[in-house]
Amino acid sequence: MLNQWAAQVLAGCMEGSENLGGETEWIRLLETPPQSDWGDLALPCFTLARMLRKAPPQIAIELAQAVNDRNQGIRAVAAGPYVNLTFNREQYAPELLAGLAAPDFGTLQEGEGKRVVIDMSSPNIAKPFGIGHLRSTVIGQAIYNILGASGYTPVRVNHLGDWGTQFGKQITAYKHWGSDEVLAQDPIGESLKLYVRFHEEAVEHPELEDEAREWFRKLENGDEEANRLWAYFVKISLSEFDRMYARLNVKFDYTLGESFYNDKMQPVIEELRQLNLLEESDGAYVVRLEEEQLPPCLILKKDGTSIYPTRDLATAIYRREVMGADRLLYVVGGEQKLHFQQVFSVLKRMGKSWSEACTHVPFGLMRFEGKKMSTRRGKVIQLDEVLNEAVARALAVIEEKSPHLEHKEQVAEQVGIGAIIFGDLKNSRINEVDFSLEEALQFEGETGPYVQYTYARIQSVLDKGRSYEKGSRPVTSENADQEEYAAMEPLGDAGWELLKQLADYPVYLGRAASALEPSVMARYAIETAQKFNRFYNKERILTEQQVQRDVRLELARLTGERLAVTLHLLGVQAPERM
Ligand code: ARG
Repeated sequence: MLNQWAAQVLAGCMEGSENLGGETEWIRLLETPPQSDWGDLALPCFTLARMLRKAPPQIAIELAQAVNDRNQGIRAVAAGPYVNLTFNREQYAPELLAGLAAPDFGTLQEGEGKRVVIDMSSPNIAKPFGIGHLRSTVIGQAIYNILGASGYTPVRVNHLGDWGTQFGKQITAYKHWGSDEVLAQDPIGESLKLYVRFHEEAVEHPELEDEAREWFRKLENGDEEANRLWAYFVKISLSEFDRMYARLNVKFDYTLGESFYNDKMQPVIEELRQLNLLEESDGAYVVRLEEEQLPPCLILKKDGTSIYPTRDLATAIYRREVMGADRLLYVVGGEQKLHFQQVFSVLKRMGKSWSEACTHVPFGLMRFEGKKMSTRRGKVIQLDEVLNEAVARALAVIEEKSPHLEHKEQVAEQVGIGAIIFGDLKNSRINEVDFSLEEALQFEGETGPYVQYTYARIQSVLDKGRSYEKGSRPVTSENADQEEYAAMEPLGDAGWELLKQLADYPVYLGRAASALEPSVMARYAIETAQKFNRFYNKERILTEQQVQRDVRLELARLTGERLAVTLHLLGVQAPERM
């Protein structure tokens, strides 16, 4: 908001002479000065200097003069090639507060209803839900929320790995060593044991691999037994995954596994053939991607069975043509970079101009307390265990800090799970993360619990505030007596900094949406909580002075609202009490 007002005044100053091209251009130029006592905003004059063919310091002096002459409550000081701008707080604080309280504050229109299909989570059936799938789930959900708040129409799709050669292995293992009873008790654990055993035994008995291939071929050809066993594995895995999603508070608009595309691949293969893109290579069929300097994309294996990229081609076409996607996002680990480059390149070769609208949204590897994951060897950290551990630790802290809190278990669940989600999302997604539960669960520092705790603190201040009689005269820009207002220093420096931070929310949201980067919002939450706590420690909110108290309470209320909205964007809950 301050940027807008500054831009209006600046644009007004330049009227008549060559203009920059409207307020948005001015907004783009404005910066935040490195030190808050230099001013609220700074305008570097280099671009203007080029346009007007004058030295930047000269422009700065002239522009500062013009701003001051306008007398709009913005004080301008030239500092070398910069103009530093300081807002009159008495005039602008009520305006900012009113703007923040407007119902449409913090929503953007830039998405204009564009449909964005987000491929997220996408775990594999009969394998445990891995840490990579956890990252895809929480990053995907946050991107969904961020795009939704930015005017897009996002659609979440869980692209279950429910097809492929691993099912041949799974069925083979089941036929040799499996038992329904044991499987029913611990579906994922038992499926995993079977999978691990298959790989161990296959070292000594390579013929097991042939058997597995045969089962997968049967599966693809509609064999009754193979399909019955497959459906059974899908069912038991899904019920486990659903439990996890419920705990993480994640929902999907569609759950369509790879198997959904079984009857949609043949037309794609035909199309590739007709376009002369399909080439034989050692009995298999590939699309060569030499021009793109990529290895060939495998489409059909020697035994005629389909493969991962083939299914992704059919999937992308379906999302575009049937789901009506304007953009296709794939929230999948960075290790699949080549796969998506190949798939998007093949789409382009097929003449699908919308291949440009496909984006792989990669993220880095996450280790839990230094441990990696490997499904094959079975040394797997179970996500369930990690979540339980986080919740147990959160409960211990709550027992210690607030022994009389109501609904402790529920709050611990929100704090424990929130700590994991926030601990993941606060990192730029592409970074590798060495996740430490201990660190993520600190109530001080850059953590989820810290932000949640700040939110709960605000709620208790607001509660206390309600016991005072509300001022008969709410403070708005219209009726504030500026002198009276100024005499009280209603917000103080810390309050003003906090207020500006709240007003900056749309800037952060816009950045998060265009970079598909939830960490921008996690940063925003941390900074906002820090600025609130500085304000809280510096200024008494519940003062005896009614007007002052009302303004400070309003600032606290708006801060709570922003924190709750931001946490919600990240998929983290905000308990009212902690
Ligand atoms: N199931 C795959 C895996 O776990 C991820 C699928 C990602 N999405 C896609 N459309 N390929 O590796």
